[in-house]
Amino acid sequence: MIAKKILNKLAGSSEIRKMFEEGNRLKTIYGEDHVFDFSIGNPDVEPPKEVFDALIDIANNPVPGMHGYMSNNGYESTRKAVADKRSAESGIAIAPGAVCMTTGAAAAMNDTLHSILDDEDEVIVLAPFFMEYTGYIENHNGKVVIVDTDDDFMPDLTKISEAITPKTKAIIINSPNNPSGVVYPASFLKNLNDMLIRQDHVIHVIADEPYIDLIYDNTEVPCVLKYIDNLIICFSWSKSLSLPGERIGYTLVSPRHKDYDDLTNAITLSNRTLGSVNAPAIWQRVIERTINAKVDTSSYERRRNLLYSNIIDAGFDAVKPSGALYIFMKTPKGLTDDEFKSICAVQNLLIVKGASFAKPGYARLAFCVSEQTILNSRRAFFAVAEELKIEHRKEL
Ligand SMILES: Cc1ncc(COP(=O)(O)O)c(C=O)c1O
Repeated sequence: MIAKKILNKLAGSSEIRKMFEEGNRLKTIYGEDHVFDFSIGNPDVEPPKEVFDALIDIANNPVPGMHGYMSNNGYESTRKAVADKRSAESGIAIAPGAVCMTTGAAAAMNDTLHSILDDEDEVIVLAPFFMEYTGYIENHNGKVVIVDTDDDFMPDLTKISEAITPKTKAIIINSPNNPSGVVYPASFLKNLNDMLIRQDHVIHVIADEPYIDLIYDNTEVPCVLKYIDNLIICFSWSKSLSLPGERIGYTLVSPRHKDYDDLTNAITLSNRTLGSVNAPAIWQRVIERTINAKVDTSSYERRRNLLYSNIIDAGFDAVKPSGALYIFMKTPKGLTDDEFKSICAVQNLLIVKGASFAKPGYARLAFCVSEQTILNSRRAFFAVAEELKIEHRKEL
């Protein structure tokens, strides 16, 4: 018999995964080009050439011991490369000891939450949010406290401060955001910090930043290190270098954090005891050599534009995302998320319900699918609009 808590989670398990399976089923019936599966955010741009060059060079020039155990926070030289990059961006001196290399952002967040949460401690998340946060927080016996954002998905400082209790341990911010694609402005970060440091206990800000390099329209993402004191960054190269299967990322504790020494030690310990032990050796070496490389985001930007036009031209509403891989469109008034999803499915248009991101009344569409699929999907958006008697803004 498996644990009851896992049994419950299995029962409610991932909406997105179910959509993925449904997408594959429909594709075998109707063919790839006639199923518009916008449910999964799997980055599809190949990693930059520098990454392959580094990998080949490392494989061709092995050094003794390069596959051995290491310090649990990773190679000093890799951590130094990360720290130097973040120092240059922020103007704040960051030592390699601030960094712990992890198996992606998921592990970075679990290491962090394991290090800070006592039983029943509360973690504030801002809706809409990446649904896995609930699992990460509950893994470490924390409680999820959901605070809504405004119509443009911008956080509301008053609502956040009203949600704070003596049990509040942390707030998670995710900008560029999954699922909305919005970027939080510097003024929000500054005001958040001012409010948090006035509290009578430390409230950690966990900045989950896997989309920081997927940015459109030359939007500037404010550097969190400049604005937040009690900060832990969770970063990953899953999207920045299109390496989600390789599992490589890091935590970085701000040198201004009140608990800097304890936290850096605790995260390193958690990285080991939660089972990662250390991040993959070869990928740390690749990262060290390609620290400033990024994927080419031009095709994501093109596809964002095409999908956004389909949605808006057909007559629907959405905030245009400045980053990440998703459009979080508004669903028409008077329909439940399930009803809208079913109407879309009739046109082979697969979306994820807003309720899966704690924000009913919306639907998430990932634009990391082929340009041809997005072009072909235009008529499906128009057909859904017609079915719902929504007036088109443009011609098909
Ligand atoms: C907002 C957000 N945080 C964290 C993750 C986990 O990323 P990683 O692959 O680095 O574990 C994802 C993955 O999609 C995400 O969207």
